[in-house]
Amino acid sequence: MSTERLISSSPMSEIEDQTNWALRPKSLNEYIGQAELVERVLIAVQAVQARQEAKGDDEPREHLEHVLLHGPPGLGKTTLAHVIANELGTNLHVTSGPALARGTDLVAALTRLGPGDVLFIDEIHRLPIAVEEFIYPAMEDFKIDICLDTGLNARTVQIKCAPFTLLGATTRAGLLSSPLRSRFGLVHHLKYYDDRDLMHIVKRSSSMLQMETPSSDALGAIASRSRGTPRIANRLLRRVRDYAMVRHDAKINPGIVDDALELEGIDHLGLDELDRAFLKTIHSVFDGGPVGLEAISATMNEDSGTLEDVVEPYLLQIGFLARTKRGRQITPRACEHLGLKLINSDLFNPSL
Ligand code: ADE
Repeated sequence: MSTERLISSSPMSEIEDQTNWALRPKSLNEYIGQAELVERVLIAVQAVQARQEAKGDDEPREHLEHVLLHGPPGLGKTTLAHVIANELGTNLHVTSGPALARGTDLVAALTRLGPGDVLFIDEIHRLPIAVEEFIYPAMEDFKIDICLDTGLNARTVQIKCAPFTLLGATTRAGLLSSPLRSRFGLVHHLKYYDDRDLMHIVKRSSSMLQMETPSSDALGAIASRSRGTPRIANRLLRRVRDYAMVRHDAKINPGIVDDALELEGIDHLGLDELDRAFLKTIHSVFDGGPVGLEAISATMNEDSGTLEDVVEPYLLQIGFLARTKRGRQITPRACEHLGLKLINSDLFNPSL
């Protein structure tokens, strides 16, 4: 089965990336959802600006504390990085943990920064340990100590960088070392968006795409299939727009959303063929579980990493799957949704 999915939370192509880019909010004011985070960032940014205004021109520029954003993919960590740099009136420099393979890569990135700039490191949990050690003094004192040569000739050179904000993003906060984690002043977990926020995002996107605004029911139908993820919501909106243009008079109502997304194999909760095949395998081959991921993966002939990272998070989130010490178990709720025979509820005990 192909794992190229319409409901994937990663961008599907460069063209999609460009469209997403155009739809992104540019300021905190335009940002929909994640209200607590927006409030925390707004206060921190305004405090920096107030301290900056109280300073003389010859004093060093104020910078925002280092920020760590963690949470599932597609929820807007990169978007927020752009918004924060924009609000601060500074430049954003984008890199990622795997791209900073050696200490010199980090030195190159840090020495490019201007005062107050934001350095965005995506997938910061994949930063090599050797590079992580360089980053501590950079985060604390805006300097990097580099050791040259070995033995008797060994000496340390200190390189200074401008005061900056490190914005780290990760989908796996648990993999971050505690010394790194403790150096962030603002740590925030991004949550899945609720349907109300997603409706609002889809409405805003439809107006930016110069479409006729879908009815409120149609916005709700798109939102409920978007797995709490704006990137998916915007993708489904484009599919529905195309369907409405070709098959109808471009007006979008709930019936058109149903038809357009049914054609794509997406049901009213946003599950696709791969999700359903995963749940049905647990149900019919393993009597509902508990079963190990490797056994499911072998039966489905699907990579276990893909199942774990791409399929399971949303099924866990909506209570269709339980992860127990003894393996994965399908829940009665999932059986009901898929019209499968209910597994014996005495056997369903996720605490086992
Ligand atoms: N587009 C994607 N994410 C968004 C958000 N959080 N607010 C507004 N528009 C968006």
